[in-house]
Amino acid sequence: MNAPIGVSLIGCGAVGAQVARMLTEHADELRQTSGCRFELRNILVRDPSRSRDITLPSKLFTTHATKLLADAGTQIVIELAGGTDHAKTLILAALLAGKDVITANKALLALHGREVFAAARKAGRCVAFEASVCGGVPLIEAIRRGLIANRIDAVMGILNGTSNYILTRMLENNASYAHALAEAQAAGYAEADPTLDVSGGDAAHKLTILAGITMRAACDFNKINVEGIEKIELSDLTAGDQLGYRCKLLAIARRFDDGLDLSVQPTFIPTTHPLANVSGPFNAVSVYGHPIGHTFFYGRGAGGAATASAVVADLVDTAIGNARRTFERLVLLPDQTPAATYRPTGETACPHYIRVGLRDQPGGIGKLATVLGSHGISIATIVQHEPPQSVSSAAVPVIVTTHPTKERSVRAAVDDITRMDVTQSPPISIPVLDERES
Ligand code: NDP
Ligand code: HSE
Repeated sequence: MNAPIGVSLIGCGAVGAQVARMLTEHADELRQTSGCRFELRNILVRDPSRSRDITLPSKLFTTHATKLLADAGTQIVIELAGGTDHAKTLILAALLAGKDVITANKALLALHGREVFAAARKAGRCVAFEASVCGGVPLIEAIRRGLIANRIDAVMGILNGTSNYILTRMLENNASYAHALAEAQAAGYAEADPTLDVSGGDAAHKLTILAGITMRAACDFNKINVEGIEKIELSDLTAGDQLGYRCKLLAIARRFDDGLDLSVQPTFIPTTHPLANVSGPFNAVSVYGHPIGHTFFYGRGAGGAATASAVVADLVDTAIGNARRTFERLVLLPDQTPAATYRPTGETACPHYIRVGLRDQPGGIGKLATVLGSHGISIATIVQHEPPQSVSSAAVPVIVTTHPTKERSVRAAVDDITRMDVTQSPPISIPVLDERES
């Protein structure tokens, strides 16, 4: 049997505790399948006295990063603390100390990937990051190995488990937004700062990484058009349901002749589309490449146990030398690929759903139709609901769906609708996935 491979963890929270569990409780199975014997040597945390999901010898825990970094017996460091500043400092120090690194930290890789990967190359080490996109779904591996022969033109998917959980619970169980978010946090799906989940930031971090390796260009997080689910109301979800749509926080990267178009937005998806039926913390990604055509990946995108599956897969890959070979040989990461070029904002067209609350007075719908027409927007359907009977001054909800329209025209129309004298509550627009396009 080979000598043990020393592993140290930075972080022992939702994901870290499950990785520690696999390394301790499933050590025999791991040894049998991989031939690797892993030895858990240090766990860096903020508060060693905190109660955790697993009981481990207290001597493993430390609050001193230097103990872990100076440990000659640690060959692989797994970063599962999150955040961008301290995590980056620790990862760069670990690489400099001659350790390979595994991380699930999509925020860090989206914002500082180039620097982290370049530092690893300079140190002759590698960084593995399967868990950073779609939790347990082995998507990075599939793209980097199984789809390497393809030119990928589009990637589209549900990349955030927390927001998908919230949208699912609101529609299916009538749960309030706040209640569903609290449940997602209790289940360990949410980020330490859940604003990242609901604002679309987390999905955009993942899209930055995913678009980079699929489009083979270094993508800039700040070039993504990002909108979260905060403005979505239950009435939008039920109206969508009646129209034959499910609302999902959809991340899309598409290659056009004039550059990449990257977006994260709540999107109505026809219920016949496979992505419409991805519920709860599950993620799914459709990848379109040449020559393969459509491929589809699905699984648990959030949660400690599912994510630990991807982290430990990276651990085995690193231990047996695959991760290093892939890292050194393939030109897919942002320290080596050219900077992406981007399509001008708002040029991509699709149908849209627009909801606005109008005053209950003559001419309101006429004014709405005039504004839409002035922006060249053609109405496909229009529905006006009665206001709640108990509230005489309530806005009348009006829902319009449009024929395919450029995003920038819809934004300009929404601004004008906001300023109409008959508008009582501000409009929101939600793109509708065009099945013919997708
Ligand atoms: P948690 O907040 O549950 O755990 C974070 C852990 O890191 C805790 O053990 C904490 O210590 C420790 N920690 C945080 N800051 C420091 C610091 N400055 N110094 C030392 N230790 C620190 O996070 P998660 O496990 O949910 O997430 C970890 C990473 O994995 C993040 O990058 C996240 O984005 C990513 N991820 C999470 C997924 C999920 O489903 N939760 C899925 C995929 C990726 P202490 O316990 O003492 O507070
Ligand atoms: N907070 C993230 C999510 C964890 O909900 O998808 C997985 O990356």
